[in-house]
Amino acid sequence: MKILVVGGGGREHALIRKIKESPKAEKIYCCPGNGGIGADAQCVPIAAVDVQGVVKFAKENQIDLVVVAPDDPLAMGMVDALDAQGIMTFGPRKIAAEIESSKVFAKNMMKKFGIPTAAYEVFDKAEKALEYIEKNNQFPVVIKADGLALGKGVIIAQNLNEAKGGIHEIMEDKVFGASGNNVVVEEFLTGPEVSVLAFVDSKTIVPMVSSMDHKRALDGDQGLNTGGMGTIAPNPFYTKEVADQCMETIFRPTVEAMNKMGRPFQGCLYFGLMLTPKGPQVIEYNCRFGDPETQVVMELLESDLVDIMEAIYRKDLKNCPVQFSSGAAACIVIASGGYPKAYKKGCPISGLDEQGQLPEVSVYHAGTKLENGQYLTNGGRVLGVTAKGASLEEALDKAYSSAEQISFEGAFYRKDIGARCKK
Ligand code: AMP
Ligand code: GLY
Repeated sequence: MKILVVGGGGREHALIRKIKESPKAEKIYCCPGNGGIGADAQCVPIAAVDVQGVVKFAKENQIDLVVVAPDDPLAMGMVDALDAQGIMTFGPRKIAAEIESSKVFAKNMMKKFGIPTAAYEVFDKAEKALEYIEKNNQFPVVIKADGLALGKGVIIAQNLNEAKGGIHEIMEDKVFGASGNNVVVEEFLTGPEVSVLAFVDSKTIVPMVSSMDHKRALDGDQGLNTGGMGTIAPNPFYTKEVADQCMETIFRPTVEAMNKMGRPFQGCLYFGLMLTPKGPQVIEYNCRFGDPETQVVMELLESDLVDIMEAIYRKDLKNCPVQFSSGAAACIVIASGGYPKAYKKGCPISGLDEQGQLPEVSVYHAGTKLENGQYLTNGGRVLGVTAKGASLEEALDKAYSSAEQISFEGAFYRKDIGARCKK
């Protein structure tokens, strides 16, 4: 098969590595890819959001399967456009992708179908939102922009002043653009966070191994929210009992709700959960693989990913084996100094071999380019050093000792990934 992966970050690199293991994969392309992905796939300079460009490329090159990984092209309807040309795809259609691209849609669906989530109200006017927050007088309070905002559209306000600032930024300064036309104001929940990615074909739902992201930039969950600074899998807080409860109260009801609303979901559905004292609740849905969750989850997937993707397309997931290995995986993200704010690009990276790798770990490239045989930084999150081990401790030791060997100007990474989970 000729397979095209749309996107160009660490998640796409991890998916490509797994796809490459399939005996079915003859040729892999990536639009646009990055420096390190180039060692595993042919990178094509078409932007991930260029729907017509991707469709044209897929047709001209007789691609057998297109995997649309990022949220933007999914929200824009890239899967619908490819489907109209009879091309096999992995990813939800536009109306199903709304489970991520509109938090208002997702919250209203959860309310309608009794899926546990934080209590909330929706506002389209800043004064109304503030009036409500002032009257309610419960802090911290969580304020979310309705639309896509690179994982940064969430403000946790500790007092009325911070809430005013947050509402002002989202609804008046429009720091997230039209994503901030509406806001969700919701109750602050507490408890360990768990990411569960699930394969879904609209009828069958197969949760993958659980994971834990680390969203803040600095150790001890300090600093700004980022796209994710590191992950571990499995998540030790996600016991068999919790998993059963999630299947009963969240996973199955969500997939059924999407069907009832005429938005059948096919692809990877990401459940961002919080294990609160009142039981598991949904913090967010994503209509795609998480980044950097995918890096650790793919490290542990034993089954053929291409088989799984084809089975989802045919709505035959229930007959497809999905196996994960025992043991654990850890991913340490090495970022550019300044991220998630402004950072420098083009710094030479030292410590990697010609393939952009290191022995015994997988180095997934997120923001790199290759120039005259030299890997250079080209993004905020640069590399995800990912290791597998019999235990979490072993996986973390391996990932950290490899991360230490890599350097570039301004490089930083968190030293406490998975620290809360060690025995
Ligand atoms: P989201 O983009 O919705 O995943 O939110 C980003 C982060 O904000 C989450 O990973 C949580 O750590 C935090 N967060 C979001 N919603 C809530 C909530 N209702 N209560 C507490 N923390 C939250
Ligand atoms: N790591 C969080 C996300 O992919 O949205």
